[in-house]
Amino acid sequence: MFKTPRFRSIAGFALVGAVALGLGACSAGGGDDASGDGGDLTTIGFVAVGPEGGWRTANEKNIQDSFSEENGFELKYAPATNGDQNSQITAFTSFIDEDVDAILLSATEATGWESILERAKEAEIPVVLLDRGIEPNDTELYTSHIAPDNVGISASAAEWANEQFPDGANYVVLEGPPGLSVVNDRNKGWDETVADNLTKLESQSANWSTEEAKSVFETILKANNNDVQLVFAQNDEMGLGAALAVEEAGLKPGTDVKIITIDGTKAALEALAAGRLSFVAEYNPLFGDTAIDVVKSALAGETVESDIVVPSVTFDSPEAATTALPDRQY
Ligand code: AHR
Repeated sequence: MFKTPRFRSIAGFALVGAVALGLGACSAGGGDDASGDGGDLTTIGFVAVGPEGGWRTANEKNIQDSFSEENGFELKYAPATNGDQNSQITAFTSFIDEDVDAILLSATEATGWESILERAKEAEIPVVLLDRGIEPNDTELYTSHIAPDNVGISASAAEWANEQFPDGANYVVLEGPPGLSVVNDRNKGWDETVADNLTKLESQSANWSTEEAKSVFETILKANNNDVQLVFAQNDEMGLGAALAVEEAGLKPGTDVKIITIDGTKAALEALAAGRLSFVAEYNPLFGDTAIDVVKSALAGETVESDIVVPSVTFDSPEAATTALPDRQY
């Protein structure tokens, strides 16, 4: 963690409580710039992932809506080219050269960020990690990381699975792209919690994709003579793909094969309400206001928590999904 001497220093204070309670507080901005000195707009470089699925669309829209001109910001959006980290590093470098006030980063890879983060530090530009972490996790290289708790979320999924299958089951894990911090953390939480009598037959990446997950799981079902009772899909799109594979095999999702997903998009909750999915863990993408709080505090030279956890909930029944759906924002 490093302070940003380029701005007036105010006695630092731990922000986690204020940030958690401040949701929405700062987004009521009335045209003042974020630094509060009535000057120009605060410029933000957003090194983003770009189109990837429902969760990503919701998250990036929320960030762009939050860092609006009305709230005192000029946000420069730079989505990756086909998920390519080099395109992100190019955009990141440009933002440093433009001397933006702060940089937001949702990384397409977990590793390979040290040198560019060092450059931002030398330029005294605060960097806030959104959703995706970096490995190794050197908290001296960035101001703060904001995300729901991937380890805790996947542990809650495993606890539900243990309750559903007290006498054991065969299961399959459908992962996101290899090496991502969120994939590593979701595997960690699941593996540390799942009961010993639940047997992992396969763990394979389906790259967040419905189509790829359908194809991967069709193959696994055939190879195991349909003797699979549970799927842990690390995002909604892959879980919906697994449900299609189950139906193609003449089986009934929710009865023959229970499917767990992470994200909590409307599509997943509708599938849960219909019984096609069995457990959906929200990975709350709506943390733009929290990101504003962090950026404002960093620009003011205040001490900011290096890891800020965004609250998320879980849904474990069709009734829970049906009740929640009318109020869902993504
Ligand atoms: O990093 C978060 C993951 O990325 C989401 O769970 C997934 O849907 C997205 O593509």
